[in-house]
Amino acid sequence: MTTGLTNIGATTRGVSNRLLCCALLGQCLGGGSADVGCGTARLTTMLAARGASVVGIDLDSAMLAVAAGRLSGRLVRADAAQLPLRDASVDVAVVVATLEFTRDPAGVLAEMARITRPGGRLVAAVLNPMSPWGWIGRVRRRAPYRDGRFLARSELLALGRKHGAAQIRGVLFAAEHLPLLRWLGPLSETIGAMLPRFGAVQILTIQRTRNLDSDAQVATSRQAREALMDNGPIYLDDGGLSPEIAARVYDRIGRLQDTQSPFERPAVDRLIAARRFEAATSVFEFGCGTGALAHRLLRDHIGPQSTYLGVDVSKRMVELARRRIAACADRARVVHIDGTLPLPAPDRSADRFIAAYVFDLLPPDYAAQVIDEAHRLLRPGGLACLVSLTHGRSTRARLISRSRHRIWRVAPRLVGGCRPIDLRHLFDPDHWDIDEDAVIESWGVPSELVVAAAR
Ligand SMILES: C[S@@+](CC[C@H](N)C(=O)[O-])C[C@H]1O[C@@H](n2cnc3c(N)ncnc32)[C@H](O)[C@@H]1O
Repeated sequence: MTTGLTNIGATTRGVSNRLLCCALLGQCLGGGSADVGCGTARLTTMLAARGASVVGIDLDSAMLAVAAGRLSGRLVRADAAQLPLRDASVDVAVVVATLEFTRDPAGVLAEMARITRPGGRLVAAVLNPMSPWGWIGRVRRRAPYRDGRFLARSELLALGRKHGAAQIRGVLFAAEHLPLLRWLGPLSETIGAMLPRFGAVQILTIQRTRNLDSDAQVATSRQAREALMDNGPIYLDDGGLSPEIAARVYDRIGRLQDTQSPFERPAVDRLIAARRFEAATSVFEFGCGTGALAHRLLRDHIGPQSTYLGVDVSKRMVELARRRIAACADRARVVHIDGTLPLPAPDRSADRFIAAYVFDLLPPDYAAQVIDEAHRLLRPGGLACLVSLTHGRSTRARLISRSRHRIWRVAPRLVGGCRPIDLRHLFDPDHWDIDEDAVIESWGVPSELVVAAAR
């Protein structure tokens, strides 16, 4: 499992450690994690310093001897393909510049998935042979590019998707010896964000499907949420807008949100056409925006005895939605929330939980908690009806969703913080029955519609 890193690798390691620390922080605080192929334990030490109860695992005793000087008592000598940890025993499993030097990267990822609890996260940072550094290394036949078995981006993503909702991003850095590093560094990272295919490091994050029953997990997700809130107004590195930022972005977007409807309407139309609302007596909408969907439902689909409750973090949106459905004020309410959970509805009080184009802007941890909330407030058999942006299936849609994703990486506010996601992976098959899962394209923009019944 020795990585044999060169100077280039050392720079890669520095960049990926920095990114990983941002991406993992929410889950690592107080939680258990494993650094697989920890080498000299740089990352392990950084995670431990941030409060993670972390174990470093490596096969190479020389590496571990150096690591022991940094972090004693939390290191284990073992093969990444046979991790000496119990099933579902860590919140986060991370592997940096190691997967590509193992005999069976798929087997290592599967082992990491085994030890990661439902709702936890896997992060794999791998060197990219298609990056400028990779090209130079391969032409000159220099380590580490000479030695690795490098997976194509699509192969890595496909491997990741076997274990949960997977995303991949690339990072380009300026080599440490270049002049004007203070300016070149941020510039090259911006270019890398726009051209992730050529990033020096590919970072795969996999959100494991959740299981609602474990007490330990509930405690950890509370900690993760608190960490999220404590972080305040920041963009989380692995995506998503914190509630505070979402409120600010959507206060500014206001009525302009309705200009999105040509792209969004067909998926919502399909949801409505399936007559999911005619039998509903109590509808809860998460992120109701300007109240466009509420207005349609109340006017044409929900019976006169049925009730509607919409919530949103943006005060401006709440104001617009209240105005829009004012005629139904006797049975429809819109409430401003600050993003903290639980949501303002009693257990088993609704038979529909809807959210249109909201989950695609939430941080993954938080999205998983909102799904738990949907389960709590739905009656058994009640339906969660979600629509969000997703990854394209046709060439045109793939092109468009990738461009949008690129803009999102550089300036998330320009696309309302929304990026393509996999909705279905949010639903734990032990607690939900998927009734419908469809991808609908409009003007080349792909949306996913998922309807799931609570058990
Ligand atoms: C893209 S808009 C969609 C609005 C509406 N559902 C529609 O389809 O027109 C996203 C909405 O989600 C809201 N939102 C974002 N984060 C939220 C959160 N954590 N809790 C509740 N609402 C949130 C935003 O304020 C915004 O109104």
